[in-house]
Amino acid sequence: MSGVRIAVLISGGGTNLQALIDAVETRDIKGKIALVISNKRDAYGLVRAEKHGIETMVLEKETYGFRERRDAALLEILQEKKIDLIVLAGYLAILPSIIINAFPNRVMNIHPSLIPSFCGNGYYGEKVHEEALKRGIKVTGATVHFVNEVTDGGPIILQETVEVDFEDDVKSLQEKVLEAEHKILPLAVKLFAEEKLEVVGNRVKIEEVKK
Ligand code: GRF
Repeated sequence: MSGVRIAVLISGGGTNLQALIDAVETRDIKGKIALVISNKRDAYGLVRAEKHGIETMVLEKETYGFRERRDAALLEILQEKKIDLIVLAGYLAILPSIIINAFPNRVMNIHPSLIPSFCGNGYYGEKVHEEALKRGIKVTGATVHFVNEVTDGGPIILQETVEVDFEDDVKSLQEKVLEAEHKILPLAVKLFAEEKLEVVGNRVKIEEVKK
């Protein structure tokens, strides 16, 4: 049995994708990355996937003309590939409702702050760390959550804290938070694959977590 079938959606460098690839290859995650989809043709994550023999696809707005046509194409491919779990790993686009509704509690996102701080519309990439530094917070971190209709508002699966040092700038903070992301994203997918996550309202109950 090859386990859970995963689609990873990316827009950029794909270090979180790499963390997932590694965890699948060591069998820590009982599953297979069946497809990597990027909304950017030049995303380095596509190269990472190809290096590991994973099927890739570029889904740019321009190819389909209408947003609705692109969304329908995305849904069709996910269903055709029999995807169980969608992971948004640095995917800088809004996932359409038709996908969220077709995959309830089966879409995960990684966010580079401790939700509900520094999240929601407009909070992505360096902006998150810029605002965190501006506010002078002492602790930040990363969050993995299920995706619902509210941006960064779905049930939280895991969070990991990161200390902010006075010397930190956006770049160093981003690096420290990425390290935390690379720990908790594969762990969340592993728990999903082992059916250890149960969503109760807006909370997630986790069975026997071993970090
Ligand atoms: C990460 O910080 C993730 O939290 C955010 O975008 C970044 C993607 O990094 N949504 P990578 O492409 O996985 O290296």
